[in-house]
Amino acid sequence: MLAPQAGRVVALGDWEQRWQDDRVGFHQPHVHKLLESNIDKVLNGRSGVRFFFPLCGKAVDMKWLADLGHSVVGVEISEIAIRQFFEENNMTYSEEPVPAMSGAKVFKGSEKNISLYQCDLYNFSSSIEGHFGAIWDRGSLVAINPRDREKYAALITSLMAKDCRYLLNTLLYNPELYDGPPFLVPDEQVHTLFGSSCDIECLQSLDSLTDRHRGWDSTL
Ligand SMILES: C[S@@+](CC[C@H](N)C(=O)[O-])C[C@H]1O[C@@H](n2cnc3c(N)ncnc32)[C@H](O)[C@@H]1O
Repeated sequence: MLAPQAGRVVALGDWEQRWQDDRVGFHQPHVHKLLESNIDKVLNGRSGVRFFFPLCGKAVDMKWLADLGHSVVGVEISEIAIRQFFEENNMTYSEEPVPAMSGAKVFKGSEKNISLYQCDLYNFSSSIEGHFGAIWDRGSLVAINPRDREKYAALITSLMAKDCRYLLNTLLYNPELYDGPPFLVPDEQVHTLFGSSCDIECLQSLDSLTDRHRGWDSTL
C-alpha cells in the first residue's frame, strides 16, 4: 500500500524553497478544526500545558494555545516561516543562537510564551527543551520522508512527558493518484510506530477532500 511513496524524498532545501517562493498551500489562516474540537481531550483538565509543534510552519494554532495560557515550542527549518509567524500575528520577538545545536537559532516571542527553533527536526532532542505535556502533529508525520518514520517516532516519543497527549492528524488517500507530500500514513502504521509507547485512540475521522486536494499538483 505504501510502496508508491516509500522512496519519496523531499530535501530540506526544497522545503526552504517553498517558503521562499510562497508555495505554502498547506498553511491555514484559521485554528485547525481538529485541534479546536479535541482540545479538551488533549488538555485532560490540565492548564499551562507545554505544547510541542514538530514542523510547525507558521501555524496560527500556536498563538491560539499561547493565548489560552499554554506554552509552545516549535521546530521549523525555514527562517522565513518563523519570521512570518511572529510578524503576521503582530508579535515582537528576539532571536539567539542555540549553543547546543550548531547553526540553529531560537526565536522567542516577547509577549507570549512561544519559542520556535530554526533547525532540522532530527537535531532537536529533549536535552534542548525537556519533555512536553502535549504534541500537536499536523502536517508533520505526513510531511517527513516515509523512510524516516521510525526515526521520527522515536524522537517524538522521547519528547513526551509521562502525562503527554499526542494529537496526530493523518490522511488516507490512494497513493497511486498522488505522490505527496502529504504522504499516506495508514492507521496500521500509526499503531506500529507508536503502539508500544502510547495508548492509541481514534478521536475523529472525516472526509476532508476539498477542491484543493482534487487539483493536487506541484503547487501544494
Ligand atoms: C506540510 S508543512 C506543515 C506546517 C505546519 N505544521 C502546518 O500545519 O501549517 C511542513 C513544514 O515542515 C518544515 N520541515 C520539513 N522538514 C523539516 C525538518 N526535517 N526539520 C524542520 N522543519 C522541517 C517545512 O519547512 C514546512 O514548513
